[in-house]
Order: sequence, then structure tokens, then C-alpha cells
Amino acid sequence: MNKSDSERLAAVLENIRFAQTEKEAEANLIFVNACSVRQSAIDRIFGKKKKWNKRRETGDLKTFLLGCVLPKDKPKMENFFDAIFDIKDIVNLPKILRKSGVKFKQSKKNGQNKFAPDSDYFHIAPSNSSKVSAFVPIMRGCDHFCAYCAVPYAKGPEISRPARDIANEAKKYIKQGFKEITLLGQNVNSYGLIRPRWKMVDEKTKKIYPPESWILDTKSSKPPFVQLLEEIDKIPGKFWIRFITSHPMDMSLDLIKAVAAGEHITPYIHLPAQAGNDEVLKKMNRQYTIKWYKKIIENIRKYIPDAVISTDIIVGFPDETKKQFRDTMDLFDFARYDIAYIAKYSPRPGTAATHYKDNVPMDEKKRREKILTKKLSEIALARNQKLVGKKIEVLVESIHGQIGFGHTREFRGVKFPYSGSIGEFVKVKITKANPWGLMGEFK
Ligand code: 5AD
Ligand code: SF4
Repeated sequence: MNKSDSERLAAVLENIRFAQTEKEAEANLIFVNACSVRQSAIDRIFGKKKKWNKRRETGDLKTFLLGCVLPKDKPKMENFFDAIFDIKDIVNLPKILRKSGVKFKQSKKNGQNKFAPDSDYFHIAPSNSSKVSAFVPIMRGCDHFCAYCAVPYAKGPEISRPARDIANEAKKYIKQGFKEITLLGQNVNSYGLIRPRWKMVDEKTKKIYPPESWILDTKSSKPPFVQLLEEIDKIPGKFWIRFITSHPMDMSLDLIKAVAAGEHITPYIHLPAQAGNDEVLKKMNRQYTIKWYKKIIENIRKYIPDAVISTDIIVGFPDETKKQFRDTMDLFDFARYDIAYIAKYSPRPGTAATHYKDNVPMDEKKRREKILTKKLSEIALARNQKLVGKKIEVLVESIHGQIGFGHTREFRGVKFPYSGSIGEFVKVKITKANPWGLMGEFK
């Protein structure tokens, strides 16, 4: 999501004739798109303070902060950023820059920001960082309030974009030659739902939530996200659709069936479990049980046998015992994940979990992270090895020297000697597997 927001920020800056540089020392303006999910990311920003302030004193540099910043961190940031603003304000960025003393020439179109016909920043056409794969945010914010998580405080409540806007943006990208559309949201599968989320159809009136303008087919009782996916799947052409992230609580059988039946929808499902034990899940306020989660996994395996399933896990949540952690290990055996993002718990200011003592020692968190990573690598390696000798379709996303890199439909990374161009779908013969990717040859 931050990458996608940064692409829109880049578009506004390019429109007022700024160019990007890869080298920090060359930059006259630095924009930090912050992420407050983990403390380490915030610490990295503070780590820049001395260096940047030195350049700021000489008038050589101006710095700007946007993205997820917790209210508690904001005052500390104020003295080494020239301005702090919300992503929603980037339509007013030229004004913000001028106020901070940045001089620039008029934008290309009579001083108007041609990308911003109104105040909805989603209407800004992003400066896509990839020519192959385009991000399409479908919603912002989160209503879930998991006990450990800063996102609902930093990003606010869930707000969905109208389905038509999203479908039109996807169509535009396909027409422009993009080969992959990734629909983004904190919880894509609660897209378009109005709380209480479980009330999709009003029992008495039989009316379907949400309002008509948000969904595409009011006669359908399928969740709005499934309708959106199916609409985008109808776009003609050769391209792939991905979506992240799905919350287990809002995971419907309709969605699994739509992925199975879709022509363009890829069989990759990111389904964060966070923990494998019901007591820990309850304390995390995840609002599902392991039984429910496993049922989803069973359904995915039943309807989409080739699916790659990935997860997010937090180790060392307050009071998590060794026995409870073993349940997470067992869940890995059950789910057979190919990818997992394993994080050591860190308390985030203002979240409910800060009322608990962060009582799992760092060494123990590291131990759990290591054991789980080892387990994941064994599972992923065994699954990847089954593909050796097979010819698999890969979308070439980048080329470094003579080596092409891309992903399979299922989102497995593949490297192979390649002299063609990016954006091609090629058949690669897999010659070698490791836990985190595949190698192959293309002839
Ligand atoms: N500590 C550690 N990991 C966290 N995550 C979110 N909040 C925290 C925290 N306080 C992880 C979750 C989430 C991912 C994006 O980051 O696993 O799914
Ligand atoms: Fe955070 Fe939970 Fe929302 Fe994910 S679902 S963004 S973990 S509060």
C-alpha cells in the first residue's frame, strides 16, 4: 500500500517537474512514507535525523513525512521534517511545498494539478514504478482493531472506493499493456461491506448491503469483493490479477470459488493467521478460531489444489507460552505455507496490547522466529522441489544482466537466463528449487 501511495506522490512531484533520484545525497527533497506497523521502521527514520538536519541547516535539503505515523510519534518527528502531511493531502502538495519554502516551476498544465480534478487522491494517476505490474488500491484503513496493531489508529476506518472507479482503472492499465493488476487493501475481502460486516443481506427486507452505488450487481448475494474480482476478471486480454491482504474472518467460500474459476485471477492467497492457538488469537482480538482458519485452508486446498498460501505470524505476543507457540508450528504443518512473514512482537503505542506486559524475552522471540523460519523453509523446499523438471509459465518482471526474474501464476519467484524483454509470459523449465524460489531455463 505504501508503494502504491508513493507512486501517486511521485506523479504529483513529476507534474511540478521534480525528478527522482536513487541517491539520497543527491536529493534536494526527501519524502518519507512511514510505516508504523513495527517499531524498527520508525527507529530507522529517527536514525536519519542527524545527517538530514546537517544538510537542512545549510538550506541544501527539505524533508517531508507522510504515511502511517502514530500521534505519539508525531511531535518527535516535527523537528526534523519541514512538513508532515497525510497521503489524502497530496492533491495539495504544491501548496504545502511552497509554504515550506520550496521553489519550483509551474506545473505542466497552467499551474493546475492535472491529475487532481477533485479532492479524491485516488484520482491521481500514479507514476507506476513497474511497467509490468500495477497496484490498484481498492480501499483504505481497517476496522478490525487487532490488539497489537497500529494500522486502525494510523490509517483510520475502512473506506472502499467505488467499484466502477476500480474496474476502470484496471481496464486502463490493461489497455496500457500492464500484465498484472494487484488489488490492494488492508482487508480486501471486507471491501464494500458496511458494519456489522456479517449482515450481507438484511433478514427482514432482504435488501443487500452495501448501497447499490458500491457494488456491481445488486441482485447478487456474493460479497462485494467477489463481485469486483469477477468484474475485473471479465476484462479481455492476457493478464493476471492478484489481491492482498485477506482477513480470515471475512474469507468466504464465494471468494475461494471465484479464485478457482477465474481466468485471470491467480491462485495465490495471503491469509494472515498471526498465531496457531485460540487463546492467543482471542487475546489478539483476531475474531476467528483455529478451527475456522483450518476450514478455510481445507476449502482452498479442495477448490484450488495448486494454490500458494502465505501468512503473517507474530511470535512472542504477551503471555504466549512455549506450548501455545507449538500450536503455531502445528499450523504450519497443516497449512503447508510456501511463504510466511514472521515478526517478533513489538508493542505499538496506543494499541490495546500495550496493557499487557511484553513478557516474552527477546531471546525467546528470536528462538521462536528461527524455529518457525526453519520449519517454513523445509515445507517450502519440499513443495518447490516437486516442480523441478516441470515447464511453468512465468511473467518476466525484471532483467538483471542476462538473468530474468519473474513470478509464476501462484506467485513463486523464478530466475532464469533470459535475453528477451520484460512483460512477456514465458514457459520456463524448472531446474532447481530452494525454499525461497526456483531457478530454470528458457529456450
Ligand atoms: N508487532 C509485531 N508484528 C506486528 N504486525 C503488526 N503489528 C505488529 C506488532 N505490534 C505484523 C502482523 C501483520 C503484519 C503486517 O505486521 O503480522 O499482519
Ligand atoms: Fe492490523 Fe488487524 Fe487491521 Fe490487519 S486486520 S491491519 S493486523 S488491525
